[in-house]
Amino acid sequence: MSNPPYRVALNGYGRIGRCVLRAHYERGASAEFRIVALNDLADQASVEYLTRFDSTHGRFPGAVRVEGDRLCLNGDALQVLRVPTPEAVDWAALGIDLVLECSGVYHSRADGERFLRAGAPRVLFSQPMASEHDVDATIVYGVNQQRLAGDEKLVSNASCTTNCSVPLLKLLNEAIGLEYISITTIHSAMNDQPVIDAYHHEDLRRTRSAFQSVIPVSTGLARGIERLLPELSGRIQAKAVRVPTLNVSCLDITLQTARDTSAEEVNRVLRRAAEQGPLQGLLDYTELPHASCDFNHDPHSAIVDGSQTRVSGPRLVNLLAWFDNEWGFANRMLDVASHWLSVAAARQ
Ligand SMILES: NC(=O)c1ccc[n+]([C@@H]2O[C@H](COP(=O)([O-])OP(=O)(O)OC[C@H]3O[C@@H](n4cnc5c(N)ncnc54)[C@H](OP(=O)(O)O)[C@@H]3O)[C@@H](O)[C@H]2O)c1
Repeated sequence: MSNPPYRVALNGYGRIGRCVLRAHYERGASAEFRIVALNDLADQASVEYLTRFDSTHGRFPGAVRVEGDRLCLNGDALQVLRVPTPEAVDWAALGIDLVLECSGVYHSRADGERFLRAGAPRVLFSQPMASEHDVDATIVYGVNQQRLAGDEKLVSNASCTTNCSVPLLKLLNEAIGLEYISITTIHSAMNDQPVIDAYHHEDLRRTRSAFQSVIPVSTGLARGIERLLPELSGRIQAKAVRVPTLNVSCLDITLQTARDTSAEEVNRVLRRAAEQGPLQGLLDYTELPHASCDFNHDPHSAIVDGSQTRVSGPRLVNLLAWFDNEWGFANRMLDVASHWLSVAAARQ
């Protein structure tokens, strides 16, 4: 491992890859690590253009230009690669300490090992892997980053929905006790949906125009939560719908609690955790009359909308939690990267 600042590369420079780079700069380009290279299938003119202009998050806050094979940002020069397979990149020659894998096309340990064999010492994936055994750890920052010992090679940053739900479920399970959980994700459109109907995906509904319909899609959220909170295994169901908005999603969470409770108690637990303790800055709480676009560019993993908490029964709780599926998750990629690199360095 090199000395700080550590050298980080992005593989896949789409919605998440670009948000990670931009969040790195908006957070003040941490002294701990530098993003020194990015790899995507796109040409350099497109890389420059999509870095400078973004329909969702606005213009890049700083100077952007391409010089040869470099993307120059605020005086830094990042090497731009256009290589379709991880083994064709000489990560060792680039001196990379960590690859942030944001293409979404690699799902298995065998895929991850292709990066390692090409000289990348560590890979952080921007999605849950096919099975928990495909990585050395799946991390939801604020909940279990302490389990990183520094010797891991492949780590997953889970999903945006797992990052939103797990902190809330853990808090409420510890404070009140949870019997059964049912979650509906209401998610903005993504690049795996076409603008107009097209042959596109093994999930037939994802062949339909993203901007014409509310579209039920498959989700692995229940499995993702069970990986982080095994004490809830077998008691979670989830479904998801995509809606025709560009960004910001929410979870509609229904909980059967182990004892009687009230909306006031549920909100008190969640508001306190947002105000103090390890989830501060990751969890937020509001009772203002918001709409989804108010949370565009919000770095929290979850924003509980306390005005929407309902309790009936009195053991049936219904909650609404917002999240910027791009920006919140990209910030967690940076948090996990930073923490992992520091524990890996301390171990040496
Ligand atoms: N968007 C979200 O809200 C969100 C939130 C959390 C997690 N995620 C996860 O993050 C991953 C990426 O999602 P995204 O929304 O950022 O997707 P995206 O916008 O489609 O970005 C993926 C990028 O990777 C590129 N790419 C494809 N194959 C590649 C390869 N072999 N090598 C290098 N680059 C390659 C794509 O190029 P082409 O377009 O030319 O194929 C595209 O630019 C997915 O696993 C997704 O589930 C997404």
